[in-house]
Order: sequence, then structure tokens, then C-alpha cells
Amino acid sequence: MKVIRLGEHSSVINSHMAQLRDVQIQKNKTLFRRNMERVARAMAYEVSRTLSYSDKPVQTPLGVKMVPTYDDRIVVGTVLRAGLAFHEGFLDTFDGADSAFVAAYREEGTRDHIKIHVEYIAAPDLTDCTFLMVDPMLATGGSLELSYKAFLSHGKPRTLHICCAIAAEEGIAHLEKAFPEDNVTLWVAAVDPILNDDAYIVPGLGDAGDLCFGTKL
Ligand code: PRP
Ligand code: URA
Repeated sequence: MKVIRLGEHSSVINSHMAQLRDVQIQKNKTLFRRNMERVARAMAYEVSRTLSYSDKPVQTPLGVKMVPTYDDRIVVGTVLRAGLAFHEGFLDTFDGADSAFVAAYREEGTRDHIKIHVEYIAAPDLTDCTFLMVDPMLATGGSLELSYKAFLSHGKPRTLHICCAIAAEEGIAHLEKAFPEDNVTLWVAAVDPILNDDAYIVPGLGDAGDLCFGTKL
């Protein structure tokens, strides 16, 4: 697995991340979701630079122009629920993409005993597609690994791009073991050093699902 740490280079992604992390700005859920979308759009642009392109004719009012557009069949797969706003930003860039959803949630518990439930899948045929699995938070890595394994019941993608806003070093190491293949790339906007005892990323941004949609019971 290749790991691309976008936050190490100066770009507007870091400005969006600063707003996502800011405890005052987080009080506005609409703005929080919008900033998630903005990180996703910028990341989607970076992913788009790795796709396969070929020239295709486009009829303009005055003539025909050959324009290189991508040939990949893209599916954007999201882990509910925190992934929803992030997903929207990717769909905005890859507007012809199909979508896949999986519901995975972590049972509250201490870091060594986090149990992840995968309960619902809705996905198209994933065989040979370029699959973007998008989830803003990569903490232990358990949700992404189990979600991808669940998606495999719908076919094996040709290429996998895992896209996250914040990743903990521990989660990156977990995915490196789970996905040793060359056709997997992990894109992260920011990397944080540690997880706390509840497996939250520190300093992170808090609970992404709650900040998008409100505190769940
Ligand atoms: C968050 C996030 C990931 C998961 C990451 O979801 O969206 O799916 O935690 O943690 P992990 O890497 O340790 O598995 P959460 O379980 O908080 O559910 P929610 O989206 O419904 O809030
Ligand atoms: N899920 C979140 O929403 N935040 C974390 O820090 C870890 C998992």
C-alpha cells in the first residue's frame, strides 16, 4: 500500500483541516459538513491525477475538440454515517460515479476491546472498478478493513483508493498490514500521532459523525 500524506505540502487542504479541528467553528454543523466536502473535493482532484485518460471528441458550437477524460469506472464507497459529507465532495468531482454504502459502527469501549459492527451494505458490482473508500477518520483501522472485506461480496475492484481526512499512525500501520498489495493507495489530509484510551485520535477533531449530524444516543 502506498501512503500519500497531502498535509505535508502547502495547500488549501490544510486551511480546511484547521477549520474542521477548531472547537469554536465546529459548533456550526453545516459549516463542519461543508469543510468535510471541501477537503474531499481537494483530495478527489489529487486522486483524479492517477486515473487512466484517453482523448474523446467533444462537439462545441464551433467545432470538435479532442479532450482527455478518464476511462476508469469509479465507485465511491462510504462508511456510514460520518462518511456522508465526505462522500458528497467526492461525488461532486466524479459526478458519473456510482455509490456504495456500508454501515459500520464502533461499540464504545476501551481501545483494546473496540468491537466493530458491520450491518448494512448497498453496492453495485465492484468487479474491476476503481474503488474509492472514503471515511474521514482512520483511528484503529478496524472499520475500514472490515468494511472493505464486506464490500468484497460485491466483486473485487481493480484499484483501491482509501481516502481519509485524519489518520492516526496506528491506523496507517494497521492498513499497511491489511493491504500489502501495490494497487492500494491511502490518501490522508493529516496524520496525528496517538489514540487515547477510547481509541479517539489525539488531537484529532473529536467525533466526526456527531459533529456532522448531532450526538447519537
Ligand atoms: C468513525 C469513523 C470511522 C471509524 C474509525 O465512525 O467514521 O468509520 O470511526 O475508527 P476505527 O479506525 O477505529 O475503526 P463511528 O464508529 O464513530 O460511527 P459514526 O460515523 O456513526 O459516528
Ligand atoms: N471516530 C471519530 O469520529 N473520531 C475519532 O477520533 C476516532 C474515530
